[in-house]
Amino acid sequence: MHALISRRPVLSFVRTLALGAGLGLAALTGCDSGTSPSNANAGKAAPSGTTTSAAAAPAAAGDIVIGHYGSLTGSKATFGLSTDNGIKLAVEEVNKAGGLEIGGQKHKVVLKSEDTEGKQEKAGTVVTKLITADKVVAVLGEVASGITLAGAPIAQQFGVPMITPSSTNPQCTAVGDMIFRVCFIDPFQGYACAKFAAQDLKVKKAAILFDQAAPYSVGLKDEFESNFKKMGGEIVAIEAYTEGEANFNPLLTKIRERGAELLFIPGYYTDVANIALQARKLGMKMPLLGGDGWDSSDLAKNGGAAIEGSFYSNHYASDQPTPEIQNFVTKYQAAFGETPDGLAALGYDAARLLFDSMQRARSSDGSKVRDAIATTKDFKGVTGTISINEKRDAVKPAVIVEMKGGKPVFRARVEP
Ligand code: PHE
Repeated sequence: MHALISRRPVLSFVRTLALGAGLGLAALTGCDSGTSPSNANAGKAAPSGTTTSAAAAPAAAGDIVIGHYGSLTGSKATFGLSTDNGIKLAVEEVNKAGGLEIGGQKHKVVLKSEDTEGKQEKAGTVVTKLITADKVVAVLGEVASGITLAGAPIAQQFGVPMITPSSTNPQCTAVGDMIFRVCFIDPFQGYACAKFAAQDLKVKKAAILFDQAAPYSVGLKDEFESNFKKMGGEIVAIEAYTEGEANFNPLLTKIRERGAELLFIPGYYTDVANIALQARKLGMKMPLLGGDGWDSSDLAKNGGAAIEGSFYSNHYASDQPTPEIQNFVTKYQAAFGETPDGLAALGYDAARLLFDSMQRARSSDGSKVRDAIATTKDFKGVTGTISINEKRDAVKPAVIVEMKGGKPVFRARVEP
């Protein structure tokens, strides 16, 4: 089902750009399972005898090849698809302007994307493939912290810089000095959610239902709990599920008896929609609150009325009236025929920040690009102004959105 839904935006994107920029499908899709010439470094000749498949994104000598690994299928499919679209938009813009200028020469950027299927155990294989077969000079991904934690050691080991657009668990960038992120981290996100619950919603008693198999969920649960208690709140129940569980009734029934005014669910959107549906059936009417893992058009598609009036923290809200955000929303809608979610915005920001770093490094060499990413200051992104700190993280504000009419609507902004 996801594959069918996802096809439409990709096709409309291809059509728009093929018309608009005079580019063929081959230059745009980038998903490549075949062989491609080596292009690790600008100016290096591709090895002779290598063949390229016409449907893939053939890279020529001198092209800059970057990789993306993400969940393009599975229960977290919209994460990878949106991120991939955001990256494609950034790549397309740079190529339309004649290429990425590195040390006085312009280079076409080629994107290679690999599917993790939303599984931690796939991360090592796909990151290895991007680096050893596709010869990417940098890697973008993953979204889910658990999958990033599995992919990052490979990039680190090969000395290839990696930027996760959206993994918020603090451990992700602690893997090594090649690993960066352009989003905030969960200690801040947990604080933002707790502050919104305690001060805006004036909630005194909250319950938590978290995914014990996801490092993201476990971390965010801890951060929400400690911050909410510090703000004078009480946690009346904590229950754990595992991604993909079908029946949440036993857990929800336990929570129902505890008098919680709010249920905090730091999980991913597929489970959250199921939980919301089952909670409403059990007569639980309290607002639900979550983190960025809720951010998917599938949340309302699957959760329907059960998710209305609930809240989650995120990296941006597409209805915020700033020029940076509105320009991006307009461009993205023209390319893909849908409103960009936070993942799309972060994918776009991560790719643009990477290009900016390569330009400043005047090189695509891993250690030089690494140093340039590490010294990024006040980079103007769609999701905010990005400066990379000594832990290779970005420090940025968060927004709280409310689900209204099936859409996330800006509700509050929380400063770090
Ligand atoms: N922050 C989530 C994680 O670390 C991933 C995510 C980011 C999901 C943004 C949706 C939007 O696992």
